[in-house]
Amino acid sequence: MSKALVAYATRTGETRRIGELIAEGMRFSAFDVDVVDAKNIKKENDLEGYDAYIFGSATYHGEMMQSMKTLLFLTEKIDLENKVGGSFGAFGWSGEAPDRIYDTMKNLFKMDMVGGSLRLKKSSLGGGIKMAQDYGREITKKIG
Ligand SMILES: Cc1cc2nc3c(=O)[nH]c(=O)nc-3n(C[C@H](O)[C@H](O)[C@H](O)COP(=O)(O)O)c2cc1C
Repeated sequence: MSKALVAYATRTGETRRIGELIAEGMRFSAFDVDVVDAKNIKKENDLEGYDAYIFGSATYHGEMMQSMKTLLFLTEKIDLENKVGGSFGAFGWSGEAPDRIYDTMKNLFKMDMVGGSLRLKKSSLGGGIKMAQDYGREITKKIG
């Protein structure tokens, strides 16, 4: 069974909900998915052994949250080249965080990224539930 890690940084829970929906979409395809708060990933070992990595953060003051920055610095220490990746996040108006995470995973970690990041204002609005589940499915298809 393929394994995926969904790691999120959130202040009020919306980004966690999106992460859980992405995981749901992956579980439809029989993936084993861990959904973890970025704050709880403390050592390189916690990041090893997955086939796909999906990282998400809410945007505050035009930036990703500190716990996601810290996670990206930790991730730099392990080799994720050609592993499948995606990024996501809740936002209010500008939503920079998901694209910043995506670019780091693509350019620095040389990961095999899905088509783009998933940015949602609210998972519960405007078809957000389906969009998040579909994003999860898209990632599973890349692994096959
Ligand atoms: C003080 C503050 C600053 C924010 N700054 C931004 C911002 O720069 N860009 C943006 O798109 N949304 C911004 N937001 C909106 C949040 O990204 C939005 O509420 C999001 O749903 C929060 O996600 P979370 O529940 O995962 O923390 C801000 C919200 C607050 C309270």
